[in-house]
Amino acid sequence: MQYPRVTSISFHNHIESIAQEKIAERVLCGEVIIVRQCLQGIGYFEHLQQIILEGIRQTAGEEKAKQLKNKGFEAFHEVINLEELPSVMGMSYQLVRALTPDLAKQLVKQVFQQQKAFYFEEESNVRFHIPYDIVRQRITEYSKFQWNGKVTPHGPHHDSWYQCPTNSVNVWMAISSVKIGNGLNIYPQVYGKLLPCTKDGKILGDQYFGSALNIELEPGDAIIFHGEHLHSSEINSTDTTRFVISLRMTLDKPQFIDDNSPYKNDYIYSDPNDGLKARLAQSLVKISRRFRNRINSAIRGKENKQNYVLSLDKVSGFDDTSSAFPQPISVKIIPGTSVDETKLFLDSKDLAIGQIKPVSQKLCVARIDEHRIIAFSRNCPHEGADLASGYLRDGCVVCPWHNLPISLENGASPCQSLPKLTVFKCSEQG
Ligand code: FES
Ligand SMILES: [Fe+2]
Repeated sequence: MQYPRVTSISFHNHIESIAQEKIAERVLCGEVIIVRQCLQGIGYFEHLQQIILEGIRQTAGEEKAKQLKNKGFEAFHEVINLEELPSVMGMSYQLVRALTPDLAKQLVKQVFQQQKAFYFEEESNVRFHIPYDIVRQRITEYSKFQWNGKVTPHGPHHDSWYQCPTNSVNVWMAISSVKIGNGLNIYPQVYGKLLPCTKDGKILGDQYFGSALNIELEPGDAIIFHGEHLHSSEINSTDTTRFVISLRMTLDKPQFIDDNSPYKNDYIYSDPNDGLKARLAQSLVKISRRFRNRINSAIRGKENKQNYVLSLDKVSGFDDTSSAFPQPISVKIIPGTSVDETKLFLDSKDLAIGQIKPVSQKLCVARIDEHRIIAFSRNCPHEGADLASGYLRDGCVVCPWHNLPISLENGASPCQSLPKLTVFKCSEQG
């Protein structure tokens, strides 16, 4: 399969030419589009910053709001402490929620340049990813589901695993700068495949989804991608906070795999020109969920799930990528020892430069270059992802789940609060 394209455009120079080519259709075919200066272009950047600063003023006080204004949101963790974080987060959600209908409308009008009706998810996501070593001080609290993807990194997922529509377009907007080491992971090599997951939306351990695409952003830039791209957050291994607001929308009727999806009623009908139906739908947001449910489905009409296929590959069911998982290297076991003991004999000809292969349930082995072969534990020190499906970069194994690079020299990662990975030097003979 050809990997989906990544296109970077500047709002001011290119938005009209790309819109002619139907930006939404391209995104729903797997293209990842980066719109530089997107929020500035639609006239929302300063407004969003002010709204968040106002929330901080109300929850953490005038002084902290001033400090943050001067230092920038990258210094959020230096100004807001872990005790204040829940209330700052709650207030940010509340304030951003109030402007989401108009923000969605401006994106549809000015970026997608669409005049017809669309749906947006009532609640935008506000994501303050502070450096992981700080979050870890309260890891029991911040491991709870409600913080997943908001403060702590999300594991690889399709949005439909969380019952979002299969035709959702995700607009991921940087309010602070986003660096390699605190951004978004998109796994283009498995686009169009519907991977199996556990009941609570965790990817199965034996799936192989290749290396991640990571994009650096300046404040105001946005990444637009199909919610069915497998994606996750990088564990924040930098010393800055990355602050992002993301909004899912469908440029057509939302299509859900599960008829009982809790998100179903959260997709609000709108149109760029504020027609009567859109105004009615938005005023209904304020009334009871049960009533909204009925009106929403009357507006939406019948959904045709049967005709929906993920683009590129026609998918009729789960696509198990476990067959692409690296095959174990053969091991010669010395009588009287086991595969997890320290003296193992492997045939190093089976290991090409850059390859990682499992040795046993607990151990894998990699060849960094002609002279260096390293064996190491398969379990990532962060959340235990299988490093046998990771990849090698600059002498590190990179974890497939949250893109953490771990040195194969000494097992250390940039997140110093994490335990070191166990590594074993190997010698090659003959
Ligand atoms: S970085 Fe999170 S599990 Fe490896
Ligand atoms: Fe997601």
